[in-house]
Amino acid sequence: MTKIFCDIADLTLIKKFNKKKIVEGFTTNPSLIAKTGAKDYKNYCKKILKFTKKPVSFEVFADTPNVMNTQGEKISKWGKNVYVKVPVVNSQGVFMGNVIKHLNLSNIKLNITAVYTTKQVSKILSKINKKTKVIISIFAGRMADAGKDPIPVFKDAIKMTKNHKNVQILWASTREPYNYIQAKQLKCSIITVPPAIIDKIEKFGKSFDSLTKDTVLNFLKDSKKSKFKI
Ligand code: G3P
Repeated sequence: MTKIFCDIADLTLIKKFNKKKIVEGFTTNPSLIAKTGAKDYKNYCKKILKFTKKPVSFEVFADTPNVMNTQGEKISKWGKNVYVKVPVVNSQGVFMGNVIKHLNLSNIKLNITAVYTTKQVSKILSKINKKTKVIISIFAGRMADAGKDPIPVFKDAIKMTKNHKNVQILWASTREPYNYIQAKQLKCSIITVPPAIIDKIEKFGKSFDSLTKDTVLNFLKDSKKSKFKI
């Protein structure tokens, strides 16, 4: 079973989507939190935690290993359901292996983010134990945006983590509802999905007949609204 998480930081939407059974957790990132206009990162994340007891990922935003460690330790104390999100590399492209190792050894649940290659997955696996939970977030949509096929990376990552019961592969950077089908076929543990795409996934199942009718009807409505004439 592939669990659906909601990829959002907006408080109203978290409150709304937390009520949905289909949503089993939440992921955020500094960009999503910045988009809400939040000024105080810690206070904002704590507000999110008031709305949900489901797993939530909050990301560190430091760029050096020492500060990442301190931020990770602090974030992990905000709630039992918190996963600390750590980027696989810093902004210079340096592997954050020591941070991953330190936080994992401290029994902190991690979500390793911004992962694009099997080499990164194998480096992550070399730094973690087989006990503390680790999510590995592979950014499918951004790969596809760059003209690259994400599927082989997922296939390899899932094979590589087969004997790591504490590791979950997460389909991140979801672009369309069909990504949920793809994530299920691959047997990803989790897919994180923006709210609008969750709404569409909930409506899966329309027949081709009704799709074709809806399509034509919408073209007709738009042309009438614009009073088109030839
Ligand atoms: O939260 C991580 C990831 O899902 C972000 O996706 O749409 O910014 O590429 P996106």
